[in-house]
Amino acid sequence: MQSFDFYNPTHISFGEGKIAELDKLVPQDAKVLVLFGGNSARSTGTLDEVKTALKQREVVEFGGIEANPTYETLMQAVDVIKQQNIDFLLAVGGGSVIDGTKFVAAAALFEGEPWDILLNWGANVTQAMPFGSVLTLPATGSEMNSGSVITRKELKAKLAFMSDHVFPRFSVLDPSKTFTLPERQVANGVVDAFVHITEQYLTFPVNAPVQDRFAEGLLQTLVELGPKALSEPQDYDVRANLMWVATMALNGLIGKGVPHDWATHMIGHEITALYDVDHARTLAMILPGLLDVRRQGKQEKLLQYASRVWGITQGSDDEIIDQVIEKTRQFFEQMGIQTRLSDYGLDNSSIDTIVAQLEAHGMTALGEKQDVDLAMSRKILERNL
Ligand code: NZQ
Repeated sequence: MQSFDFYNPTHISFGEGKIAELDKLVPQDAKVLVLFGGNSARSTGTLDEVKTALKQREVVEFGGIEANPTYETLMQAVDVIKQQNIDFLLAVGGGSVIDGTKFVAAAALFEGEPWDILLNWGANVTQAMPFGSVLTLPATGSEMNSGSVITRKELKAKLAFMSDHVFPRFSVLDPSKTFTLPERQVANGVVDAFVHITEQYLTFPVNAPVQDRFAEGLLQTLVELGPKALSEPQDYDVRANLMWVATMALNGLIGKGVPHDWATHMIGHEITALYDVDHARTLAMILPGLLDVRRQGKQEKLLQYASRVWGITQGSDDEIIDQVIEKTRQFFEQMGIQTRLSDYGLDNSSIDTIVAQLEAHGMTALGEKQDVDLAMSRKILERNL
């Protein structure tokens, strides 16, 4: 196993009715900026529930954070913070609102042009405002991690940053708040969490059985519960377990001491920035082709994945790997998510554009062995056309 530090300070308050705990979690004398997305927080009643739980505290609202949050909108929130002397932020929404709030928290105290935070992967963040979150969409793990992904529309750039300063102080996870999600977002959440796990598990063995078994258990839970979340949309236990899987998939635990890939995410981010395809859908259209192209380097873990997660043991190594890639593809399709670039109207000329953007953003040595260069990214995209 590789050496590591594990730090995760986020307090999780999990269960139905837990929004009421905000009164204990948010400082009594805070002036709170509540950040949310388009309309769902308001129309589902969650925003009102949050405001009721905040009781006497002074509250200012900032709505309109887009799916794939933009620098342009978030900088307006930074202005509100400065004008209104806000001292605590509360994100109410999915990964986009939480990621956006992380950026705002860091940008409000940043000296210089905040886009530099993204250009430096967050290494230049030395402080951030305190914030918490109320999660309404299980998918990204943003509620318990220190990562954030921000889009700058004018540059067609979608870049990530990480900093220990932007861990949420707390996150409230009430599974009943996910009953209002459209099917499309439930499916996106399952696939996003699935690919977070594979990015940290499907690499090469380093004798880390704890991390492997955690990852396999989380993958099996998604395979079992993902389709149930679609067929039994009002089942609280299904929603509760999915919510916890998605958090555990990217809160650091399974990824400590093991190599990481993340090539699927980096290529996917370019596709969202260029063609506005949902984040999870970009992952579903990259991962099967990536596993195929990189089957040699990933062979041992692919065979382990096939046997332990899917029970596939018959055939030559290559046949087993073929079968497990197909199973993975079928699982995404079963969730209602198509897995080919052409399903989304992309073609060979789109591949040229995606590869050019990867180059422009320095994404030229991706993967657990940094061997995914532009030529390999092109091959991966072509394999999934
Ligand atoms: O905008 P509103 O009206 O609120 O609607 C949202 C949004 O349109 C809706 N929604 C959320 N909760 C709802 C609801 N609708 C009904 N009922 C509810 N309870 O869902 C839509 C999608 O929301 P969004 O927050 O964009 O989805 P998600 O949580 O999948 O977040 C995606 C973003 O997270 C980034 C992605 O790149 C993308 O920008 N990621 C962040 C990561 C991280 N911080 O670690 C890792 C991820 O892999 C990912 O890259």
